[in-house]
Amino acid sequence: MSDRLTDSEQSQTWWSRAAVYQIYPRSFRDGNADGLGDLRGVIEGLPYLASLGVDAVWLSPFYPSPQKDAGYDVSDPRAVDPMFGTLNDFAELVEQAHERGVRVIVDIVPNHVSASHPWFVEALNSPADSQARRRFHFLDGRGESGEQPPNNWESIFGGSAWTRVKEPNGSWGQWYLHLFDSTQPDLNWDNEEVRVDALNTLRFWLELGVDGFRVDVALGLAKDMTYPDLIDPIGMSQSLRFDLDPTSEEAAQRRAGLANSALFDRDEVQDIYREWRALMNSYGNDKMAVVEAWVPPERASRYVSEDTLHQIFGFDFLVVPWDAQVMRDVISRAVEAVSVVSAPPTWAMSNHDSPRVVTRLGDGDLGLARARALALVAHALPGSIYVYQGEELGLSDVEIPDSARQDPVWFRSSGQQKGRDGGRVPLPWSGSVPPYGFTDRTDAQLWLPQPDGWASATIEAQDIDPMSTLNLYRASLALRKSHPGLASGEFAFIEIDDPGLLAFQRGADVVVIANTHPHWVESPRSGMVLLASGPIEVGDNGLRIGPDTTVWLQT
Ligand code: GLC
Repeated sequence: MSDRLTDSEQSQTWWSRAAVYQIYPRSFRDGNADGLGDLRGVIEGLPYLASLGVDAVWLSPFYPSPQKDAGYDVSDPRAVDPMFGTLNDFAELVEQAHERGVRVIVDIVPNHVSASHPWFVEALNSPADSQARRRFHFLDGRGESGEQPPNNWESIFGGSAWTRVKEPNGSWGQWYLHLFDSTQPDLNWDNEEVRVDALNTLRFWLELGVDGFRVDVALGLAKDMTYPDLIDPIGMSQSLRFDLDPTSEEAAQRRAGLANSALFDRDEVQDIYREWRALMNSYGNDKMAVVEAWVPPERASRYVSEDTLHQIFGFDFLVVPWDAQVMRDVISRAVEAVSVVSAPPTWAMSNHDSPRVVTRLGDGDLGLARARALALVAHALPGSIYVYQGEELGLSDVEIPDSARQDPVWFRSSGQQKGRDGGRVPLPWSGSVPPYGFTDRTDAQLWLPQPDGWASATIEAQDIDPMSTLNLYRASLALRKSHPGLASGEFAFIEIDDPGLLAFQRGADVVVIANTHPHWVESPRSGMVLLASGPIEVGDNGLRIGPDTTVWLQT
């Protein structure tokens, strides 16, 4: 039997039309009343997730970690941090999720480890040029006594990407590379031990029954080992911009600068994923990996060819403005980019690194209306969607007092960048005051403070409100699976003589129309309304669509 998927097999895999729910464990739900989210909380939340209609969950890291970057600084990739539970809890989570028809995807962080990982501790205690240091990027500094960093690379979190170490004899010595925080040393992927260890990690979680992986910083593993100075070291730290139109010339230039550069998206990185794919295939054809790689659409297919991995996040959609023309461009480029390798496109409107979509699109009622409308665009597109916890509740970013901030981005940029805490606040489950049912410990000091005024945003409150964003998501997730046009119909844009409308067709009989205008419009197509994100009117003269509203029509 071939271990490759044909086009038609690929289009029948579970991930090709999945709704994947991203769980940020520390903020999802607390199951042991200590005030922090954990794996028991995820198990308790499974009935909710099943009722939402998701096909899979992706868990952000829950591995042992000093938590300098909320768990993306891993000190043991094959264990559970006691603050999140035990391996038994994880096994139970997988079992119970599977019983409910929900698959489980875990986060793999291959670019770096925590500074408290035994390998890094060993490296610090070993001489220059030792095998222990060769697992990382240790270099001598420049300048007379090596007092300057080896080159001008900058950390994505701000500041230099190099930190100097004290040698075991107490004197200043070499420098090590960290693309993120100084507590997250980058691994050297030219090193055989590093490769073997990652395969062991994949195998470990596959043996525990996971269905897939989300690959952190998937574009970064291979580096130019001549360590050249970069012409634009800032370009890389500014590559993740949520205020830049992804179709703009500036965005294109930034990303072009990263493609096959000294640090990112190098061709060699695909050799690593070929090894991973071969391993994953040996566990059957229904295991998948989705890569975090901010690459231009024309470089996306490299990550998802039949011998590399399976899905790539379509990040242009994560930053797309509420503009019908730009949305159309972004969607068509994303669909085209992966169709050459018959991989399903993916659509995410938010994640733990981005502002919440409501906030990004204008905040308040306006942002919420647009976020709901954008969701009905995303959910009707071909491919998979990724829903970040709380997005289905229409949450916006929370204003965090500076004294309560946790994100290393805030500290490393000396407060220049606020960081990502605003979208990471613990979820509101029930009740009318903090902690809103997130934890049973009512006097808990949460790791990030919840706001007042979330009483109507809780799952409990939205559950019984037919107009809530939660019930809009439930309806759209159910329809996108059950309606043949939405589930598998051909996708094509519909030409409309109004630049404020985005319209497309799914199959023979479903039409999706998004009105981005701040005013009502006559619908350019008629039909039975399957679902609407906002106000609509059905009168003698046909259908009218309210401002910032998307409708699904059966024609
Ligand atoms: C990825 C993660 C982000 C983390 C970074 C370093 O971009 O999504 O949260 O800070 O990698 O691991």
